[in-house]
Amino acid sequence: MLSDKMQSALNEQIKVEAESSQIYLAMASWAEVKGFEGIATFMFKQSDEERAHMLKLVKYVNQRGGQAAISALEEPKLDYTSFKKLFTQLYKHEVRVSECINDLVDIALSEKDYATHNFLQWYVSEQIEEEATAKVILDKIDLIGDDKGGLYLFDNDMKVFSSTGHNIVQ
Ligand code: FEO
Repeated sequence: MLSDKMQSALNEQIKVEAESSQIYLAMASWAEVKGFEGIATFMFKQSDEERAHMLKLVKYVNQRGGQAAISALEEPKLDYTSFKKLFTQLYKHEVRVSECINDLVDIALSEKDYATHNFLQWYVSEQIEEEATAKVILDKIDLIGDDKGGLYLFDNDMKVFSSTGHNIVQ
């Protein structure tokens, strides 16, 4: 059984993951309209992954005798003036999500909720990967700037990464 404190913290994370999915979806849609098919495909896929992160939490909270809260979401407020700005926001967002996960781990330990602590380890590992992916993309975009030719090549790389299922970090 989840403590009230643990349940409300997990429910907050449900919202964070749902908002992450919205952020990636907004980025995907923007890239698609701009004609960057590879970046759009990658972002649509990331958006689906964030939704899966959210669902995993929903099921866990319910399974542990709690009740998952499905709340209203903030509209993504993104600066679309350049790819660099967009990806900087993505990276900062993932760093913030990692901090949220760390806070959850702290609460699980303070509540002596070892089951939730164990459950959260999957998210700890996932965040290492997500932050690394966001950083690699940001570094590449940093190199390219908003040079159209460079972005075109980068978009092609993203198309390959997204269609082969290979992680961009590898
Ligand atoms: Fe589910 Fe990217 O955090």
